Amino acid sequence: MTQDILLPSLWDEAVAAKLDEPGLLLYRSNLLGSDLRITNFGGGNTSAKVMAKDPLSGADVQVLWVKGSGGDIGSMKLDGFATLYMDRLFQLRAQYRGLDQEDAMVEALAHCIFNLNPRAPSIDTWLHGFVPRAHVDHVHSDAVIAIAASKDQVRLTQEIFDGELGYLPWQRPGIDLGIKLGRIAEANPHLKGVVLGQHGLFTWADTAKDCYELTLRIINKAAAWLDANMKRPAFGGEKLAALPPASRQEAARRLMPLIRGRISGAEMKTGHFTDAPEVLEFVNSNALARLAPMGTSCPDHFLRTKIKPLVVPAEADGATLDALLDGYRADYAAYYDRCKRPNSPAMRDPNAVIYLVPGVGMIAFAKDKATARIAAEFYINAINVMRGASGVSDYQGLPEQEAFDIEYWLLEEAKLQRMPKPKAMQGRVAFITGGAGGIGSASAERLLREGCNVVLADIDATALDEVVAGFAGRYGKDMVRGVVMDVTDEAAVVAAIATTVGEYGGLDVLVNNAGITSAANVEDTTLAMWSRTMDILSTGYFLVGREGYRVMKAQGMGGSMVFVASKNGVAASPGASAYCTAKAAEIHLARCMALEGAPLGIRVNVVNPDAVLRGSKIWAGEWSQQRAASNKIAVSDLEEHYRKRSLLQRSVYPEDIAEGVFFFASDISSKSTGNFLNVDAGNAVSFTR
Ligand SMILES: NC(=O)c1ccc[n+]([C@@H]2O[C@H](COP(=O)([O-])OP(=O)(O)OC[C@H]3O[C@@H](n4cnc5c(N)ncnc54)[C@H](O)[C@@H]3O)[C@@H](O)[C@H]2O)c1
Ligand SMILES: [Zn+2]
Repeated sequence: MTQDILLPSLWDEAVAAKLDEPGLLLYRSNLLGSDLRITNFGGGNTSAKVMAKDPLSGADVQVLWVKGSGGDIGSMKLDGFATLYMDRLFQLRAQYRGLDQEDAMVEALAHCIFNLNPRAPSIDTWLHGFVPRAHVDHVHSDAVIAIAASKDQVRLTQEIFDGELGYLPWQRPGIDLGIKLGRIAEANPHLKGVVLGQHGLFTWADTAKDCYELTLRIINKAAAWLDANMKRPAFGGEKLAALPPASRQEAARRLMPLIRGRISGAEMKTGHFTDAPEVLEFVNSNALARLAPMGTSCPDHFLRTKIKPLVVPAEADGATLDALLDGYRADYAAYYDRCKRPNSPAMRDPNAVIYLVPGVGMIAFAKDKATARIAAEFYINAINVMRGASGVSDYQGLPEQEAFDIEYWLLEEAKLQRMPKPKAMQGRVAFITGGAGGIGSASAERLLREGCNVVLADIDATALDEVVAGFAGRYGKDMVRGVVMDVTDEAAVVAAIATTVGEYGGLDVLVNNAGITSAANVEDTTLAMWSRTMDILSTGYFLVGREGYRVMKAQGMGGSMVFVASKNGVAASPGASAYCTAKAAEIHLARCMALEGAPLGIRVNVVNPDAVLRGSKIWAGEWSQQRAASNKIAVSDLEEHYRKRSLLQRSVYPEDIAEGVFFFASDISSKSTGNFLNVDAGNAVSFTR
């Protein structure tokens, strides 16, 4: 048996000694949640029954601290726990008459809240309250679920845990299951916990430390037993060899926009790709064809992954995908029709979330990157469960009607209805060149604020790292990526767009913005200066625009390109002929692409900034001196000079340009293409004509 499958205890007495009971509960929860082998992200919950002074009466009362709705035990803080009067939970229990009151009982939990705690109690609260022990852990360990999802679940539970654990068949969480857990614990004082069929583990003890160590010991027992008793090779062995890593990436990047374009209807989808070893083992195996259609067994998994994945051949073209996706949707609609109840919510998005590609890996699509990534992680949990269960017994999916009743549970629906309205750019993917600079990073921030995924490309690696780290801190690391790229390097441009597609599944917004300045009278303009200016500002915009256009076309959902040109692209200015000409070329390139893109729904528009001094690196260097000299003023007077020169007498900032970029990037400008918008505080020489 391999040692690395065993979980070590991370309990530190020196830390624990300083903590009170709620502190110990939090400590134990964070330790348990720190390892995905113990429980999946957001899955599981922990509790402690603690004495406290009632704030109203001053009496000593027993309070249940239990992980509340939302959050993850690995990262939660004390405010993630709901607190409830134990005596009131028992009063509700006395009123409970039968299963048709389940949902009403969840609402009644609000009457039990202790100390006006704003954290909403979750439905799993019931699974902790009636167990007559101070501490209860509930975790979704893959090793335990593997046993719980196998055909011999009852016998195996008895055999592996030697009578230490009881068994309850799967039932949706609620007061009824809570009462059953309480009864089994009361009637069998020797039991240390219960395996819940298809779902996971409950353990209980008298102290926080005992409960933590018991949970680990049980999971280790399950993992060791599976390891020693599994039929090998797993999943009936390899049917097909994995493609080499680079070819896997390439195949995923080709497939993702094709799938994304076909499944993003009312809701834009963000993608996630993984070729983790356990994914490859499964998708390349002999058992794939048999196990994949059986669906994921654990409700916690399939609420994220949908009941079934879709298997897609690596070489599938558009027509093959159309047929496969139509088939999946028809199948889903039939499942909905077969299982729906008179009061079921309307059918939800019938597209698959998980796409398994033999030889290549797994692609997940969801409303945003974090949701797609987590869905993929949950499917890996499901793979682990199937590997274990089919290795020691037969794997069993959940009965279809039960799966449906969970998926379309009115309480789930209510949770969905409470979700905030999606932001304007949610699920979309933007690629911004010069993203580390003033206007590029301001535009990125504007789009991030609207829920857009953003890839920043820049030649300046140091500045890029800093900007990306800042955004990751403010908007979450899932939302932003950085790629070092020179817009004049064709291969680098192709690679950067491919990276974008691999990270997020496609491309919706392309902001051509990278730039430099150059200034000299015509007679002093060297060929080198001319060529460099043209290379970066016009050839660079062409290369990036062309590559983005190709992806948008393949994806088939249109798209929006925004070129950040300049007032100088419209109005000639002395002493900068290379710059002005290159900027004029950008504007004309945008118009040409707008013409060709229109039938495909690809819009191409231009924002023309002028004199954005603050935050811009191009104004930090020589350009300022030349502009100051050409206007016969001091560099320190430049901002004031430009402000006074503008019609509105106002300074222009990167954030102002970013508003223009957002306007063209988003659907509010959906009827505009081939346009330009000056954001320059007014300048008659650049009026549209
Ligand atoms: N700031 C202004 O007053 C002003 C006015 C009109 C137009 N513009 C245009 O706005 C755009 C952004 O300018 P900014 O003011 O934010 O300048 P900035 O210097 O702050 O940002 C430009 C970014 O482009 C990057 N870059 C330069 N060459 C590159 C290359 N070959 N490949 C990839 N990245 C490269 C730089 O590293 C920098 O991060 C430019 O196209 C500029 O011409 C700016
Ligand atoms: Zn659970």
